[in-house]
Amino acid sequence: MSMNLNGFFKKMAAGSLFFGLLPVAHADEGMWVPLFLSQNQERMQALGMQLTAEDIYSVNQSSLKDAVVIFGGGCTGELVSGQGLVLTNHHCGYDAIQSHSSVEHDYLTLGFWAGDFAQELPCPGLEVRFLKEMRDVSQQVLQGLQGPDGKPLPEAVRQDSIRARSLRLTAGLGQGEEGRVVPFYYGNQYFLFIYEVFPDVRLVGAPPSNIGKFGGDTDNWVFPRHTGDFSVFRIYADSLNRPAAYSPENRPYKPKRYLKIDLGGYEEGDFTFVFGYPGRTQEYLSSYGVEQILEQEDPMRISARTERLAVIKAAMDKDSKTRIQYSAKAAGIANGWKKWMGEVKGIQRLDVVGSKREYEKVFGQWASSPQGKAYAGVLPALEKAYQGYGAYQGMAILFQEHTLAPEAVSFAYSFRKLCQASKTQDSALGRILEDCRARAEAFYKDYDPGVDKEIFLRMAFMTEKDGTRTPVIEFPGSTLQKQADRFYGKSIFTQPERMLSFLEHYKPGQYKTIERDPLYKYAVLVYGQYLNQTAPAVARFKKEIDSLQRIYMKGQMELKALSEAASRDSLSRPDQGLSNTGTGILYPDANFTLRVAYGQVAGFSPSDALYCKPYTTLDGIMEKENPDIYDYVVEERLKDLHARRDYGRYANALGEMPVAFIGTNHTTGGNSGSPVLNAEGNLIGINFDRNWEGTMSDIRYDAEMCRNIMLDIRYCLFIIDKFAGATRLVEEMEIVGD
Ligand code: ARG
Ligand code: ASP
Repeated sequence: MSMNLNGFFKKMAAGSLFFGLLPVAHADEGMWVPLFLSQNQERMQALGMQLTAEDIYSVNQSSLKDAVVIFGGGCTGELVSGQGLVLTNHHCGYDAIQSHSSVEHDYLTLGFWAGDFAQELPCPGLEVRFLKEMRDVSQQVLQGLQGPDGKPLPEAVRQDSIRARSLRLTAGLGQGEEGRVVPFYYGNQYFLFIYEVFPDVRLVGAPPSNIGKFGGDTDNWVFPRHTGDFSVFRIYADSLNRPAAYSPENRPYKPKRYLKIDLGGYEEGDFTFVFGYPGRTQEYLSSYGVEQILEQEDPMRISARTERLAVIKAAMDKDSKTRIQYSAKAAGIANGWKKWMGEVKGIQRLDVVGSKREYEKVFGQWASSPQGKAYAGVLPALEKAYQGYGAYQGMAILFQEHTLAPEAVSFAYSFRKLCQASKTQDSALGRILEDCRARAEAFYKDYDPGVDKEIFLRMAFMTEKDGTRTPVIEFPGSTLQKQADRFYGKSIFTQPERMLSFLEHYKPGQYKTIERDPLYKYAVLVYGQYLNQTAPAVARFKKEIDSLQRIYMKGQMELKALSEAASRDSLSRPDQGLSNTGTGILYPDANFTLRVAYGQVAGFSPSDALYCKPYTTLDGIMEKENPDIYDYVVEERLKDLHARRDYGRYANALGEMPVAFIGTNHTTGGNSGSPVLNAEGNLIGINFDRNWEGTMSDIRYDAEMCRNIMLDIRYCLFIIDKFAGATRLVEEMEIVGD
């Protein structure tokens, strides 16, 4: 580092809180790239880890990473036996469990346990992915993307080259392999990931819902927590142990590596790490970006969903058929709704916007010095871009959260293909018609037109009342009420019987019935407005913000490196632990690639005078028990085991049955199902949630307040073994710490 730069830092450090204002890397914050874990090794070992970085991720030999999989589209799972047994969350296996459930076999409600291999249930469409290899391909992807004058290429040209180069990098892979080139640090770096994809995954076991979903949406995002959120699957492979489509000939997969299970438990302060696939975080936004979320995006989504949920909840309370139809939908709507409320509170409490502004002042000063001149203007440009983006983003949210809230709208719109194919006598018409029939069956199974109408009216009135009513809601010459009466009285889409019989006897000429349908016309209108006007504008601003954010990210990394170097040269600086991630490096935002988050088992204080211990027990389930409240019903058999304290080898040292515990591991959506490992690298839990007070960790992590919630592996095994009697599964596992 040149003296010049040292000079800059000396000047900045004198008399200002400069170093404390950098994007704060709190103790144990971060989701780290396993390929570079040696940079964290010292810190991890200081916290108690007995492994080396190489034990966790190795290019050359089998390592813990070989026991971790992407489960389905958005969760993590882990191998726990030499016969391909996988653990993940109940909410991650939910779709698979539901798809095998019927009135005769209600596995969702009652649970399911395969008695032997032959009873394990194939789950078409469910895949797991093993990471074979990750490689830094920044050079290959980014080389020469500067023009001859050193100026960056136009964004569109740049993106085209990146796409072409990525395609080349993922070409020529073997059977069952899949390559993905993924941007890191907003496209300042690129990594190639090669996965092995296994398409034969079978359901092995699931606890009843009142264990796997205990506490339901009431307890979702909350600690103290008592949810037994796990399910069990098995990977099958062909006779040579290779990935293969389902076949009765397939055999249990023999993994390179599986995790040992440690029943020895933990104490507050013990080292843990979570190894999985966090989906998305935005830790390096500008203050303008955070403001946008805080002032517009979250509040708009929250208020729309408050109304929508009120309608659904009221209907669910009145009628048990509606409760079953809408429970999964309500859970999905409520999950985001509750998280965003916590996020808003957390961002406000930490004054994230204010502290980013302070940091941006420093950044701006640096950017206007000769050393930082590559970043001059990036912040003002971001500010301007967000100003432009705001109005369009608002319209997009209105469309998503209001216009599409009544489900009949997108359902009707999905019939466009049928109309087109009918008009053009397309040879695919038969297939498309089949598709529509299947979709209609599935849609109406969980649909109540009365509820949908109420939602339509509420959402529409809401936007009218608060003056944000946009053209997307309007329909010429009609009041909202009349419009609703037409959509839900005359339209074929909201009359299941009529629609199903219409599809059964469908003739190509009948596309006119669809095209004349009032709801269909409305759907085409509002989608048209969205797709032709709103979406392109949103995309344009997003692209601009993304490319500015790439520059800003690079600047933040450079500034961080400079200040680290300055501190090594022992320039005066206030002590605000710049390197208290243990690395002095800014970790990349989550992007659904494999990461390590580490920390300690730790309680926290959710509010004044309250302290939360780091774990819950079965006693707490009995405290919550209430046969009249759906979320808090407890199985007789579980009550019985509790009454007799019959916990077998799974009790803790105090004789309690631990259920869930919390720690300071920095996690996010996608980390669900991730293995939680102890200092020796053995499995002690399954990650499944975060505390409500800490949900702003996707934007700003706070070591004091942010906790991840994990299922205690002892409760998981207790349920499998003592509760369900599926002892054959426990016998497959390698158990230590007994
Ligand atoms: N909040 C957790 C996550 O974001 C769990 C969601 C599933 N559970 C529920 N009760 N809806 O995925
Ligand atoms: N519940 C989340 C998931 O399903 C985890 C989280 O957001 O902390 O991935």
